[in-house]
Amino acid sequence: MIKFENVSVLYPGTEEPAIKNVSIGFEQGEFVCVLGRSGAGKSTFIRCINGLQPVSEGNVKWDGKSLSEMTPKENLEIRRKTGMIFQHFNLIPRMSVVQNILTGLFGYKKSYENLLGLFNPNERKSALEAIKQVELTVEPTRRVENLSGGQKQRVAIARALIQNPKVFLGDEPVASLDPGTAERIFTLLKETHIERNLVSIINVHDVVLAKKYATRIIAFKKGNLVFDDTPDKFDEKVYSEIYNH
Ligand SMILES: Nc1ncnc2c1ncn2[C@@H]1O[C@H](COP(=O)(O)OP(=O)(O)OP(=O)(O)O)[C@@H](O)[C@H]1O
Ligand SMILES: [Mg+2]
Repeated sequence: MIKFENVSVLYPGTEEPAIKNVSIGFEQGEFVCVLGRSGAGKSTFIRCINGLQPVSEGNVKWDGKSLSEMTPKENLEIRRKTGMIFQHFNLIPRMSVVQNILTGLFGYKKSYENLLGLFNPNERKSALEAIKQVELTVEPTRRVENLSGGQKQRVAIARALIQNPKVFLGDEPVASLDPGTAERIFTLLKETHIERNLVSIINVHDVVLAKKYATRIIAFKKGNLVFDDTPDKFDEKVYSEIYNH
């Protein structure tokens, strides 16, 4: 479904590519965790998947079609199909829970509707359903700025859900949460993943979480894809190769 063919990304003003000659494919149903030291290229890789980061060389293909050959409309469609969940949630602090969730629909609406915050009753209903699904127990009208980290992350997941995505992309979605909350968020991501038969590709620094939830682990070292296998193969030896200098 998603395919990288010899993808490299060289940031302007740098000499070494952030990711080098990466070739890999992902199919529906896979829950992939991405590991690697800080600076290894994990975020760069995640952002290439839906074209947030343009590639310098190679191709990222969705169902056989390269992102670089797509029309702006087709590119928008790819963005719609990917629900992104970030470490710092990327919510709008002064807006309410339900308003934040509704921004997940922006890709589906006309820009003036977004500007004016025009959402129809069905859309509001689906936002409330998403709140239930992520088991968020706060008032939907509460501003998100005073919510706890775990609650904010649930709002962010609900926002990704009402997009009706085919793909979940996570860039350290639990990095700022305590271990218990991190585990509950991962359980929620995995349950949603299974229910909706998604492709989930998630960067995480916690190897234990990755081994527990992933169906496949990949790892980067200095921009190179150096591991791609099932979690049971990610043993002590692989760990030290990836995390040592
Ligand atoms: N916008 C940018 N401009 C220049 N260099 C960048 C940019 N973004 C990332 N890099 C560099 O690219 C390399 C890979 O960065 P990336 O953020 O993908 O790593 P990462 O594995 O996500 O790290 P971390 O675990 O710290 O988030 C690093 O050397 C980083 O300094
Ligand atoms: Mg990163």
